Amino acid sequence: MSDKFIKGFSKLSKEGKIEWVAEHYFNNADEGKALLEKYWHPDAKTQKLHDEFIENTITNFYLPFGVAPNFKINDEVYALPMAIEESSVVAAAAKSASFWYERGGFKTEVVSTKKVGHVHFVYYGDYNKLWEFFNDIKARFYEDTAHITANMRKRGGGILDLMLIDKNFEEPNYYQIKATFETVDSMGANFINTCLEEFAQTLQREIAASNLFTEEEKNIQIIMCILSNYTPECLVRAEVSCPVEFLATDGVSAEEFVQKFERAVHVARIEPYRATTHNKGIMNGIDAVVIATGNDFRAIESACHTYAARSGQYRSLTDCSVKDGIFRFWIEVPLALGTVGGLTSLHPVVKLAHEMLGNPSAKELMGIVAVSGLAQNFGALRALVTTGIQRGHMKMHLLNVLNQLEATDDEKKQMVAHFKDKVPHYNEIVTAFCNLRGVASVEDLKK
Ligand code: MEV
Repeated sequence: MSDKFIKGFSKLSKEGKIEWVAEHYFNNADEGKALLEKYWHPDAKTQKLHDEFIENTITNFYLPFGVAPNFKINDEVYALPMAIEESSVVAAAAKSASFWYERGGFKTEVVSTKKVGHVHFVYYGDYNKLWEFFNDIKARFYEDTAHITANMRKRGGGILDLMLIDKNFEEPNYYQIKATFETVDSMGANFINTCLEEFAQTLQREIAASNLFTEEEKNIQIIMCILSNYTPECLVRAEVSCPVEFLATDGVSAEEFVQKFERAVHVARIEPYRATTHNKGIMNGIDAVVIATGNDFRAIESACHTYAARSGQYRSLTDCSVKDGIFRFWIEVPLALGTVGGLTSLHPVVKLAHEMLGNPSAKELMGIVAVSGLAQNFGALRALVTTGIQRGHMKMHLLNVLNQLEATDDEKKQMVAHFKDKVPHYNEIVTAFCNLRGVASVEDLKK
């Protein structure tokens, strides 16, 4: 057995875990350990909080927390908290926000807030018999979960619907209880999964106690009980609109800009290669706010991509139109977000992000996050169809390269001035930096 295999790693102390990882996986154990320590929070209580978010924590992994101001959303003005590592995302968000601030701002509408979960099970018998039985005992599912749903019902949520679904034609003997929930301001994953596991027990118990079923039919097998992260009925729409003539931009006439913009959106509707990149840009905006507000960006990502493929082809999540001289640009996305529970009440910076947004309800946050995606997409498309994307990107990238080269603040200032009107590519940055330092090559910089 490899000496890199370990049993009982999780039972080691934090120091023990660090020692073991350093010894087996770091090139220089002391340097590695010093780095881990450097990233610990100086306040032991805060560090412990972070340690306990997950298992086997050995340090923290920082992401920049930026702010994109000037978002006018439904006539309120917001500064969006964004946690993201990609340079230019926050700058692009802020630029789009200011652009639309002067053109009426963003409007949002929550279309619906339903979430879904399933008990997936196998039944060897007649579907119609099961269907009748399921409907006869439906009230039991609600009764048996009453203690779980009590608080949620007080807040206006709970179980909305229960259905038996026949999947036998796709997978032999496979059926589902499909449950629909309203979870109000919580994301609701734990609530939904707890209810589903209770439904499974009710189903098994009621069938076993019934004399309508043969012994074989009674032998149902629960495969799993789990919420679905696909939430097409937890949907929000965000939109901007203005007269076409207000859209002249970066030396391009309003008509030409709108015509190219429309074409770019349509390309992303019909061409999956482009749609994937187009939606990636949207997720730059969505994920950054989702992470800053302590929500589950993996769940949001998977829901958005499934939604983008709902027609059978992967397509753009945004769309636009021009009618009677009015340009409209909108996004429709499934966003199952929470503003209470989970990380939202634990992580101090997440709490601050919610405070910055005025402690929004889940519905309000859905609108804000959708706007962030729309604004990001507008910024990307605006750059793509006018100046090209590299100008903005490389400007931000310039600082990353300069940091790699360990430039001082003063050198950074001089380099930014040097590249003011140019697109700075890596080699050009290195050459200009070497010239500034008066050395011949990168190797000389290290001497
Ligand atoms: C880069 O992170 C995102 C873009 O590629 C999005 C797009 O092409 O629409 C700029």
